[in-house]
Amino acid sequence: MLISRPPFIRPSEITPYDCYVSRRELLMGAAAMGLAAGLPSWSAEAAAFEAIPSPLSTADEPTPFEDITSYNNYYEFGVDKGDPAANAHTLTTKPWTISVDGLVARPTEFHLEDVLNSVTLEERIYRLRCVEGWSMVIPWVGFPLSAVLSRVEPLGNAKFVAFETVLRPDEMAGQRGFLQALQWPYVEGLRLDEAMHPLTILAVGLYGETLPNQNGAPIRLVVPWKYGFKSIKSIVRISLVEKQPETSWNRQNPDEYGFYSNVNPEVDHPRWSQATERPIGQGGLFAKRNPTLPFNGYAEQVADLYAGMDLRVFY
Ligand code: MTE
Repeated sequence: MLISRPPFIRPSEITPYDCYVSRRELLMGAAAMGLAAGLPSWSAEAAAFEAIPSPLSTADEPTPFEDITSYNNYYEFGVDKGDPAANAHTLTTKPWTISVDGLVARPTEFHLEDVLNSVTLEERIYRLRCVEGWSMVIPWVGFPLSAVLSRVEPLGNAKFVAFETVLRPDEMAGQRGFLQALQWPYVEGLRLDEAMHPLTILAVGLYGETLPNQNGAPIRLVVPWKYGFKSIKSIVRISLVEKQPETSWNRQNPDEYGFYSNVNPEVDHPRWSQATERPIGQGGLFAKRNPTLPFNGYAEQVADLYAGMDLRVFY
């Protein structure tokens, strides 16, 4: 597969994978001596670039690129895990525009290239790893969603953010025909404070390369403390709204999928336990399962967002 780098990444800015730091080292380092200083084993060049190292980084081994890009959910291209890799090449991802509208002072239609060019150095996130979904550790490339939201100036009554995937039956086989797996376009939502959290990112690449189509090119959401289905792909619209928006999976099966989708080992899915997770790319179905961590290991950063809420009710 021939894939190129996102336009704003210089090859010299991509660090070998063994240069990542653990979240603990990162936070301690950040607290103790300012954000970039003292990070172990980083080249001078990368350390200088990484003015704000991502607190998303973990010390876990990343999932191989081949697994991240061949085991996917993207129902617009079929319901089997291998379908997106086989079929998603039919989606044209250039040019790409994203409307940001609703309860904002400055509704804007962004060209993706312009967004990437306007993202400041401090806002860019590199080399982060993010344990997510069915347990993959993915070195995403992206920037905080808040960078886009703050540009349009949300109004005081904006409480939620609604997202929409592109609707293009001509290019997406799963959106054609009689048997539709989901209602289109695919939609997702976050509370505004979740959306503004620095861990919530818009990803445009992984492993230092432009995002492959099956992973949601050219731009998709990553919310590392939630299950994968919050990771809406190929986004064309972001709307600030007052009421909790619909999400595709909640609409499809409300008893199984709630709005929040926080990783919660104590709440079983009606059809399976969520107490353990199967890491992809490590021994297939027979891989040793790991205990699932609350909020995917990010409780320290995000648990406050849900203070006082019964997470069994708001699942
Ligand atoms: N986005 C769209 N547009 N369509 C989808 O079917 N599936 C979701 C999410 N985003 C989906 C989507 C689900 S269920 C998961 S688990 C993640 O994408 C999978 O992301 P990945 O294939 O990059 O691992």
